[in-house]
Formats: sequence, structure tokens, C-alpha cells
Amino acid sequence: MEIADVRIKVKWLNDEQVRKTLGFSDYPVSLLATEAWLKKVAGDSKRKDFMLCLQENDEPIGFCGIKNIDLVNLKAESYLGIGNIDYWGKGIGLETKKVLLDYSFNFLNLNKVYSYHQADNEAMIKINLKLGAQREGLLREEIRLEGEMKDMVLMSVLRKDYFDKNTTNS
Ligand SMILES: CC(C)(COP(=O)(O)OP(=O)(O)OC[C@H]1O[C@@H](n2cnc3c(N)ncnc32)[C@H](O)[C@@H]1OP(=O)(O)O)[C@@H](O)C(=O)NCCC(=O)NCCS
Repeated sequence: MEIADVRIKVKWLNDEQVRKTLGFSDYPVSLLATEAWLKKVAGDSKRKDFMLCLQENDEPIGFCGIKNIDLVNLKAESYLGIGNIDYWGKGIGLETKKVLLDYSFNFLNLNKVYSYHQADNEAMIKINLKLGAQREGLLREEIRLEGEMKDMVLMSVLRKDYFDKNTTNS
């Protein structure tokens, strides 16, 4: 992710439909604060923040990444969001999470990738289960979203389960 990507990411983070399941309670998000955030995290080796772009024309449609990379315990947290809602329901979420897991297990050699999702985010829960994740627990009333307390689920994929479930070699 580069400074030039901040404007569109801010637009997505403030979009009512995208925010509904994003699990991100800070609202509204400003351009200035997001630029400052990117400048701060850009040199942080414990995270990798990417834009999600269409292969055919490089158009940005979302964002994703790995954060809290822990090379002692071999784990990290993944996140993703498709900001352009025209691209929801086309399998891109599943494909993106798979790329993040491939990167984490094959390139970073991690053992575990975990992620937090709103308990009502059925798509993300399905994506995780398809890729070999298990639900680790329910975080009750973890975030406040538009005045409503929301439960979150913590899910994780272990390296061995991922390679058992998917065809890529470890
Ligand atoms: C959640 C999100 C990443 C899903 O990506 P997507 O590309 O739309 O999902 P996919 O097309 O890969 O679908 C994955 C599965 O979820 C299902 N699904 C998709 N949208 C769904 C919905 N709204 N409700 C229930 N299931 C849904 C699909 O049918 C598919 O299951 P199937 O293969 O059994 O049919 C995307 O909708 C998004 O970015 N939403 C806003 C931000 C967000 O919630 N990010 C995740 C924060 S943790």
C-alpha cells in the first residue's frame, strides 16, 4: 500500500455497507489520519499491508494484509476487505484469504494465522472454514458499532490443517 492508495481506502472505510461487517469501530476515518497511520506502519516489519487490485487493469478494489507478525511464536493476524461492493460474492474474498495464507505459510514460514470477525459476518466465517480454519472462541460484545455492541469471533488456521485441506505443498 502506498500514499496514493489512501484516498480510496478512506472512501471504503467510511462506506456504510463496507463498514457494516468490517469490525472497525473508528468512524469517520480521515484522509490525514490514514496518511499518518500509513507513514507510521510502512516501516514496521511486523506487518505487510497490501492493496487488492484486479489482475486485468490493476484497478484497486480492496485491501488486505498480515499484522502482528510474531516470528518467535510463528503466528500473525490476517485481515481483508473488498471496498468496491460490485466485486462482492465473486469468490475474491476466498481467493484473497488463500493468497494471504500462502504468503504466511510458504514465504514467512508461520505456523498459525488468526483473524477476528464480527459474529454476523457469515461470508468471512465461511471463507475461513473452507480454508481449514477453526473457531477459537467468541468475544462477547467486543466492539461498539453505531451504538450497538457486537460479538466477534476469533478464527485461526494452523499450517498443518491448511496444507491438509489445500493442495499446495508445505
Ligand atoms: C466479507 C468479504 C471479504 C467476503 O468476500 P466475497 O468475495 O464477497 O466472498 P466470496 O465471494 O469469496 O464468498 C465466500 C463465501 O461466503 C458466501 N457469502 C458471500 N457473501 C455472503 C453474505 N453476505 N452472507 C452469507 N454468505 C455470504 C459465499 O456464498 C461463499 O460461500 P459458498 O462458496 O459456500 O457459496 C467481503 O464481502 C467484504 O469485504 N465485506 C466488507 C468488509 C468485511 O466484512 N471484511 C471482513 C472483515 S473481518
